[in-house]
Amino acid sequence: MILRISLQKEFMAQTRSKSKKSATKSASKKAATKKTAQRRAETRNTKRNSKAATKKSTTTPKRSTTNKAASNGMSNESMLQELFKNELKDIYWAEKYLVKSLPKMQKAAESEELKNAIADHIVVTEEQVARLEEVFEMMEWKVQAKKCEGMEGLIEEGKRVMEETDKGPTRDAGIIISAQKVEHYEIASYGGLAQLARTMGRTDVADLLSTTLEEEKETDMLLTQIAEASINEEAADEDEDESSREGTDMEDDEEA
Ligand SMILES: [Fe+2]
Repeated sequence: MILRISLQKEFMAQTRSKSKKSATKSASKKAATKKTAQRRAETRNTKRNSKAATKKSTTTPKRSTTNKAASNGMSNESMLQELFKNELKDIYWAEKYLVKSLPKMQKAAESEELKNAIADHIVVTEEQVARLEEVFEMMEWKVQAKKCEGMEGLIEEGKRVMEETDKGPTRDAGIIISAQKVEHYEIASYGGLAQLARTMGRTDVADLLSTTLEEEKETDMLLTQIAEASINEEAADEDEDESSREGTDMEDDEEA
C-alpha cells in the first residue's frame, strides 16, 4: 500500500515536471516565432527603404533634365544674359520709337513750358539711344531692336488723348499723364537692366544704364512740377469755363 502511494506521488511529480517543461518549450517557441517575425519585418523595411532610395536617386537627375537650362546645355549665367539681351533690345526699340513719337506730342501741346520740356527730352532720348548702342558694344553683341508692345500701347493711349481733346490745358494735362506713363515704363526697364548687369558682374554696364535711369526720373519729376505749377489748375479753369458756357447755351436755348 505504501509502495503504491509512493509510486503514485512519483508519477504525479513526473507529470508536473513534463507539463512545466512543455510550457517552457512552448513559451520559448513563441518567443522564437516573434523574433523571426521581427527579423522578417526588419528585412522588409530595409528592402522598401533601399527601393525608395534607388527610386529617389533615379528621379533626381530626371528632375534636373526637365530643367530648361540643363536640356539646352545653358548655364544659369547665360540664361540671365539672354534675358538681359532681350530686355535691352526691347528698350532700344522703345527709345527709337519715342524719338519718332515725342515730336507729335510736342506739336500737340499748348503750354510753352511743356513744349520745351518735351523738346529737351527728345535730345536726351537720342543720347539714350546712343548709350544703349554703347551697351550692345560693351557686351560684344550686335545692335538689335525688338518690338516693344508695352511702349507701342502707351504711345497709342497718348494719341487717343490727343485726338479726344482740343488744344489747351486739358490736352496738356493728358499729354503729361501719357508722358509720365512712358517714363515709368522706362524707369522700370532701366532699373531692372542695371540690376541685372550688376548681378552679372558688369558694373561698367550698370553704371551706364543708371545714368539713363536718373535722367528718366528727372524727367518724371519735371513733368509733375509742370502739371502741379500751372497746367492742372488751368485745365480745371478751362473745365469751369466750359461748364458755364454750356449753362449759358442751355439758358439761351430755353429763352428761344
Ligand atoms: Fe528714355
